[in-house]
Amino acid sequence: MTDLTRPDAKPARPFFSSGPCAKPPGWAASRLATGSLGRSHRSKIGKARLQYAIDLTREVLQVPDTHRIGIVPGSDTGAYEMAMWTMLGARPVTALAWESFGEGWVTDAVKQLKLDPTVMRADYGSLPDLGSVDWSTDVLFTWNGTTSGVRVPDGEWIAGTREGLSFCDATSAVFAYDLPWDKLDVTTFSWQKVLGGEGAHGVLILGPRAVERLGSHTPDWPLPKVFRLVSKGALAEGVFKGETINTPSMLAVEDVIFALEWAKGLGGLTGLMARSDANAAALDAMVAARPWLGHLAADTATRSKTSVCLTVEGADETAIKKFASILEAQDAAYDIAGYRDAPPGLRIWCGATVDTADIEALGPWLDWAWAQVRSN
Ligand SMILES: Cc1ncc(COP(=O)(O)O)c(C=O)c1O
Repeated sequence: MTDLTRPDAKPARPFFSSGPCAKPPGWAASRLATGSLGRSHRSKIGKARLQYAIDLTREVLQVPDTHRIGIVPGSDTGAYEMAMWTMLGARPVTALAWESFGEGWVTDAVKQLKLDPTVMRADYGSLPDLGSVDWSTDVLFTWNGTTSGVRVPDGEWIAGTREGLSFCDATSAVFAYDLPWDKLDVTTFSWQKVLGGEGAHGVLILGPRAVERLGSHTPDWPLPKVFRLVSKGALAEGVFKGETINTPSMLAVEDVIFALEWAKGLGGLTGLMARSDANAAALDAMVAARPWLGHLAADTATRSKTSVCLTVEGADETAIKKFASILEAQDAAYDIAGYRDAPPGLRIWCGATVDTADIEALGPWLDWAWAQVRSN
């Protein structure tokens, strides 16, 4: 037993998972448009809805006309691997990893594509030395490391005039940070993070230099059909106009249209970033007030404001599991244990679909649940 009483007020929406993330406020399955369901995705309506999702993405993210936006199979993993498999091999590669997802792209480059990349690593909580990246090489990196809560500070470290291409996995960054599109040759993400959308599809954004690479470079390895962006020697432009390579889930497309319209209604990217910033600030205030909580990412300039990873004094993996499951059983917080490969701790999603009042309501619950864990 502890002398802390269980708080009364619960977060109204206790959805703090770092992916799939909370649905936008007001979301309900019954609010999704369904006119494209049960129809061919190549019908007039199917193609129009896919194109609309692309157009909304461009508008909300302020993607310039120089860049193409395509919806591809396989969620973010599919989009990023499609880019790796189609464009790498033309020049040396540098792969940056400071947590699990970046490490996954290193594994692809080393073990699958056998590219012998220069690998620049850092431990959970830190970044590699971005200033020493060689931009004559193709560079693989993750904007926001979802499992360590460490992100790159901005795009200043990406050379304006680079010979190599930049490959940015922006899954837990896009819609929460202002991305410098002129510095990003390849950007990928999935809808299941900041937009609270569904898995299954990835988004691939290609700058002009990436398109040029696709036209001038033929990989040495075979390409499965779902990776093919070039047809008869030319870019398959249809992919960037809603003519997907294979059959998409129109339900997932309608779901992301709902989220993108919500985002547009907030004022687009500025509105989304303001919500994420407010959530991260509320969580930070909660951490500052509790000596037993800390940030895994020590440097505020590179600390995530979406996947915020917290240390818990004296907690091992077992204690964290217990901590998270007590909160889940109370419907006070779902899915807040840190990622399985990360140091034991909590991970609380602060992306735009979460309401700040729910982050604030979490504080007393963390106190209460931690007291329960410690008293046993
Ligand atoms: C940075 C990052 N990259 C890649 C992925 C994999 O995304 P998906 O499951 O949409 O393929 C995730 C998912 O959490 C992620 O956070």
